[in-house]
Amino acid sequence: MEVQCHLEALPSIAAGALERAGFVAINTIHCQPHYQERFECLFCSRVRAIDEMPGFLAMQVLKPGAEGEPYLVVSYWESEERFQAWVGSEAFLAGHARAFADLKAAKEAGQEPPMTSTFRTYSVLAR
Ligand code: HEM
Repeated sequence: MEVQCHLEALPSIAAGALERAGFVAINTIHCQPHYQERFECLFCSRVRAIDEMPGFLAMQVLKPGAEGEPYLVVSYWESEERFQAWVGSEAFLAGHARAFADLKAAKEAGQEPPMTSTFRTYSVLAR
């Protein structure tokens, strides 16, 4: 699927958003080398379904500085409850439809998953 990158057109994190964050969810994603370009393009054209969720403050996708290291998808929330509500929502599925379709297609073709993820949650201890 063709996707267009338009990162420079995206709005920046709203002023003061990070100061309000009490809860942070970090998804660590290892990508197969052949999938990296597709992965980056999915994010720079991301669905933005999450942007409308109450309590969602900001997110960043961090690209590793060294080859073979994982990407980090960092999301900032007002509270854990707000985060859990997103994980159980239609917006979560909408925001992951293309990613989950790629995983399904690889599985059906008998291939290794193009990416694997581990996620951890954090509370803000200090600023
Ligand atoms: C609870 C676990 C997860 C968290 C906290 C998380 C976090 C996020 C966030 C914040 C977005 C942006 C959504 C939007 O724009 O509406 C996103 C999209 C995405 N996530 Fe996750 N994610 C999780 C699970 C996964 C898993 C299991 C995978 C794959 C193994 C994955 C791969 C991706 C990809 C490739 C996108 C871009 C999708 C697109 O725009 O087409 N995520 N994720």
